[in-house]
Amino acid sequence: MKSVCIFILLLVSSFIPHNGEETEFKLCKKQATGFPGFALLRNGPLIIKVVKDTCSGCKELQNCTTYDGSVQIQIVRQAEERVMKQLRFPRLTEITGHLLISLVYGQRNLKDIFPNLAVIRGREMFLDYSLVIYENKGLEEINLPSLTTILDGGVRIEKNINLCYVDTIRWKSIMRTNNNKQYGFVSSNNNDACFDTCFHSSKSGAKCTPPAGHSDSPSDAYCWAPGSERNPACQSCK
Ligand SMILES: *[C@@H]1O[C@H](CO)[C@@H](O)[C@H](O)[C@H]1NC(C)=O
Repeated sequence: MKSVCIFILLLVSSFIPHNGEETEFKLCKKQATGFPGFALLRNGPLIIKVVKDTCSGCKELQNCTTYDGSVQIQIVRQAEERVMKQLRFPRLTEITGHLLISLVYGQRNLKDIFPNLAVIRGREMFLDYSLVIYENKGLEEINLPSLTTILDGGVRIEKNINLCYVDTIRWKSIMRTNNNKQYGFVSSNNNDACFDTCFHSSKSGAKCTPPAGHSDSPSDAYCWAPGSERNPACQSCK
């Protein structure tokens, strides 16, 4: 019976036209768990772990452009390249819930994992936060270069002993508040010996440009990472 169903499903899906695979919108959400005939249990977050050379949860997020729900990376040990490659979600631009990053050892920043993540909606928070970066020894920069908007909920960045480039991020332009509630920004017990500087080049067009309305002083530039001549890593690049 089951194989008949699968056969029919395959047959049906083969008739759905596939074109422009690369730019296709793909909405993903967690498969509901529950018993047939009973109310479905409330969906929990998608949990991603890289341990013992496997990435659990990676496949569920692969190729998704929007994840309807929350994503929690709960542990990343340094694994072989084949496995680390599964932990790359270049198509993901939006998470409707929260994003939590914890116990990441095998990764210096989040740019390789979420290079195009632009929006975190915060419809579902973790306590009162929709971006939580907690206890990651490996992280040296956050570096989410495409993140422009956190619609609801606060940001908590705590106990990342090697993490710098937190204060160079212009959080107040990223964090929005939809309702009247003001959400918090907490940054504590990260690397306290940072010397953060945003890259400046004498060449025009290759330097960090402060967002409109802010002073032109180099010290007011905002960046996600130190940057270089080729890639200034500015938060607002012209
Ligand atoms: C993601 O896309 C690749 C290439 O198009 C495909 O081989 C793979 O099966 C897809 N993964 C999922 C989970 O849909």
